[in-house]
Amino acid sequence: MSLLSKIFKSKTVGEIENSTGNHSIPGHVAIMMDGNGRWATKRGLPRTAGHANAAGKLENLMTYLLDRGVHTVSLYAFSTENWKRSKQEVDFLMNLMTKELKRGKKRFMEMNVRIKAIGRRDNIPTKLLDAIEDLELATFGNTRGTLCLAIDYGGQDEIVRAAQAAIDEGVENLTKEAFNSYLDSGELTPIDLVIRTSGEFRLSNFMLWQMAYSEFAFIPEMWPDMTPKILEKILKDYSTRNRRFGGTKK
Ligand code: FPP
Repeated sequence: MSLLSKIFKSKTVGEIENSTGNHSIPGHVAIMMDGNGRWATKRGLPRTAGHANAAGKLENLMTYLLDRGVHTVSLYAFSTENWKRSKQEVDFLMNLMTKELKRGKKRFMEMNVRIKAIGRRDNIPTKLLDAIEDLELATFGNTRGTLCLAIDYGGQDEIVRAAQAAIDEGVENLTKEAFNSYLDSGELTPIDLVIRTSGEFRLSNFMLWQMAYSEFAFIPEMWPDMTPKILEKILKDYSTRNRRFGGTKK
């Protein structure tokens, strides 16, 4: 684990500071931005046009969620399996993320949003890694909310790396809480609500540990068609859910 990662993992407050205390609002929302390729293909555009469009919507949607009292948004930006895509699409996504993160720095500071990345750091291009680490450092003290970016991320990969880190440190009698601290997501609160667009009903190896008691919203719209109005509908539906966490109905 790099020194930088250790410092970031040491943060234990911040994610819930702006919580409304209103449990009908999910504190942590995880989003699988699916359907970019199909959205573009349907319009006779290259798949990459869907990704570019998707990235352009993020600020507006993040602002909407923060305004509603959500404190953490986790985005599945690139999975450990996405390397299987064409080199052209992979390169495009790496460059797009680098560009958006560099460009977004000023806005993240203005929005008082902390950026945190989860996923492997040993395969992504240096330029992207530099942009991520620069943002993590610059935004570390921001308190309005956290944007967690899953880049070269796989839930199983994260769990195996966490297990290995605990073994390497000679930990005995591992508890759930202690194991949690070895995960990339570390101090983030568990996911309350998972949203997946494009009509697919899969988890696709996203934040498996953190979703243990999440609610799910699988919606038909493609990610580039996502709007605050659709999010509003999803949040309204979430507020009607009776979350029992294995207990009985309240
Ligand atoms: C899934 O749609 C989307 C992705 C694999 C990439 C999403 C990433 C971005 C939009 C970059 C965001 C930028 C930052 C800075 C976080 P798909 O291509 O699998 O769609 P399909 O199922 O229709 O092919």
